Amino acid sequence: MKHLTALFVASLLFSACRNKAFEPVPELDYCVSQAAKTLPLALDYNHSPNTVDDGKQEWRFTQPGSWTCGFWSGILWYIYEYSKDPQWLAAADNFTYPIIPAATGRAHSHDVGFMAYCSIGNGYRLTGNPAYKQALMQAADSVARLFNPQVGTFLSWPNMVKKMDWSHNTIIDNMMNMELLFWASKNGGDRRLYDIAYKHAETTMNNHFRPDFSAYHVIVYNDTTGERIKGVTHQGYADETMWARGQAWAIYGFTMAYRETKDPRFLDVAQKATNIFLKRLPADMIPYWDFDAPAIPDEPRDASAAAITASALLELSILADDKTYQDAAEKILLALSSDEYQSRSKNTAFLLHSVGHKPNESEIDASIIYADYYYIEALLRLKKIREGKSIYENL
Ligand code: GLY
Repeated sequence: MKHLTALFVASLLFSACRNKAFEPVPELDYCVSQAAKTLPLALDYNHSPNTVDDGKQEWRFTQPGSWTCGFWSGILWYIYEYSKDPQWLAAADNFTYPIIPAATGRAHSHDVGFMAYCSIGNGYRLTGNPAYKQALMQAADSVARLFNPQVGTFLSWPNMVKKMDWSHNTIIDNMMNMELLFWASKNGGDRRLYDIAYKHAETTMNNHFRPDFSAYHVIVYNDTTGERIKGVTHQGYADETMWARGQAWAIYGFTMAYRETKDPRFLDVAQKATNIFLKRLPADMIPYWDFDAPAIPDEPRDASAAAITASALLELSILADDKTYQDAAEKILLALSSDEYQSRSKNTAFLLHSVGHKPNESEIDASIIYADYYYIEALLRLKKIREGKSIYENL
């Protein structure tokens, strides 16, 4: 593996020397051809591809209600956006509809934001279907019930309150789901949705970061006084280490929060969280699953953290008017598009080498659907940038 990594770095440097700009279109075509192979494998529209375990070819599927259930239909929406082919529109619709009941029922965690916005959100963006809009509004109202005004954040995991004695817990991932609330408020929903999403970002900014702007995974608060009790981890290596995907959520989440609020403090957080991520990134641009995992360089990488960050940096580059973030995003995408990271004939996902939950020993060095989702999102964003279009442009 070390040998392979050295070869891989050498090939990246060679490509950089040739100064050839990374080209997203062949990679988008690759994603379409992989998704075309995956599409007939689902048993029905209630089963979305989720994970391919290391060394396996078969997908494990997930169902509406899981936090990852919206990523496959989100991928189908991005492929429709790219191809404009009505067959992909039909597939995207078919996999999105079954998510509506799960996304609009009582929210059992902040994950409703991931579930709804990546699937139904993209569906509404690209079709204007009023049923999707209604579902998004209901999802936003439902998730809003998790906001605790004493603390100023959302309760991320109600099921951990008793189990872990975390009376109010907020995870850095929760920042991502503020996008649904900002959207709902802008599109006819209550102004309060904007206010609580803003407050969540502000409280998270104040409590979730160490002095070097690496993010804690979980902050535990007193649910009645709002006092910050401690910072801990759930999916990272240890409480004080930098879990790669958590840092990626922070970068993406605060970039998005700045886009929606124009509060310069959020831009500052996004930039500082990015700086530490890029500074500590290995030379081949793909993070280990935790930047402080003890056996580096013999620890698994996390392609999902790389893909989330690449997509975020393309937006940050525009919002901060700083091309170096785009350059970094392109380098990450180049690495993810190498033979080392692409599934190709190994399985029908787009990417290899992601880590879901290392402390639980689950989804280690696997192909995971959210890595593919943010990879194709980043490719589409880069294509639009190359064509001189806005990354927010629709069909
Ligand atoms: N939101 C859970 C994760 O990133 O694994």
